[in-house]
Amino acid sequence: MSGKVVFVGAGPGAADLITVRGARIIAEADIVIWASSLVQPGIVAGAKPGAELVDSASASLEDIEPHYRRARDEGLLVARVHTGDPAIYGATAEQRDLIRTLGLEFESVPGVSAFSAAAARMEVEITVPEVSQSLILTRLEGGRTPMPPRETVRGFAAHGATMALYLSAARNKVLQEELLAGGYPPDTPCIIGHQVTWPDELMLRCELADLSATMREHKLWKHTVVLVGPALAEGPIATRSHLYHPGFRHEYRAAEPDAQADLRSHGTRGVTEEIR
Ligand SMILES: C[S@@+](CC[C@H](N)C(=O)[O-])C[C@H]1O[C@@H](n2cnc3c(N)ncnc32)[C@H](O)[C@@H]1O
Repeated sequence: MSGKVVFVGAGPGAADLITVRGARIIAEADIVIWASSLVQPGIVAGAKPGAELVDSASASLEDIEPHYRRARDEGLLVARVHTGDPAIYGATAEQRDLIRTLGLEFESVPGVSAFSAAAARMEVEITVPEVSQSLILTRLEGGRTPMPPRETVRGFAAHGATMALYLSAARNKVLQEELLAGGYPPDTPCIIGHQVTWPDELMLRCELADLSATMREHKLWKHTVVLVGPALAEGPIATRSHLYHPGFRHEYRAAEPDAQADLRSHGTRGVTEEIR
């Protein structure tokens, strides 16, 4: 008899944004551990009759351990439900250590993270050709959780790429200052997503110079993700991808000669050759 713990990504909130696999694990689990402060009740509503539902909102790792022990001793399946994607600020590494020590099996089911949900709700692309091809996912340093010394918002801002900021809403004034000090221009587009896909979701747009004032005006101290970067600008984009350009040849499509000449004359030969 061997129990198992499955870390399940609940997604950002809406009950239909969990993966099919994650929902199946919750439906099959003998014990469902979830944090009511972060995960919407609809996510665990599909637990089977008789399943034990454990609210971990105020629990420490030590409080969770007896449930894992029981799962091991009785050969039970535990769904450990985490908001968004369990791999992002999910504190799953320390749980894996514990589960290993206890001799249980474990696996993970990914989920839709807050940044992804916010981008979808505002209909933006995080990686716009020739504008930003990178996403930096981080949190503001200087809070109660220590950060590695080289991971600073100011340092990351110097790249000018798209940035997703978690766990940073309460210190929005410092956040804005650090983003500006790192080199984002004051008119850089920002998206603020509060309780994205929850019933009381609030989605806002502003320029970086107004980020803190906007967050203060709406009292957004928690459950908020901030996206920053030039790729988030509204309106038509000035560039297009090579992949869908008729002049771009790849494994599954020949290039149209005129379009290919046009693409090359705009100085994109390097990229075309790189992907060949
Ligand atoms: C402990 S972290 C968990 C992140 C989660 N694992 C994920 O992938 O989205 C909690 C932070 O994630 C962000 N977050 C998670 N879900 C959110 C949502 N639905 N709307 C806005 N922000 C969210 C907020 O920054 C919040 O403070």
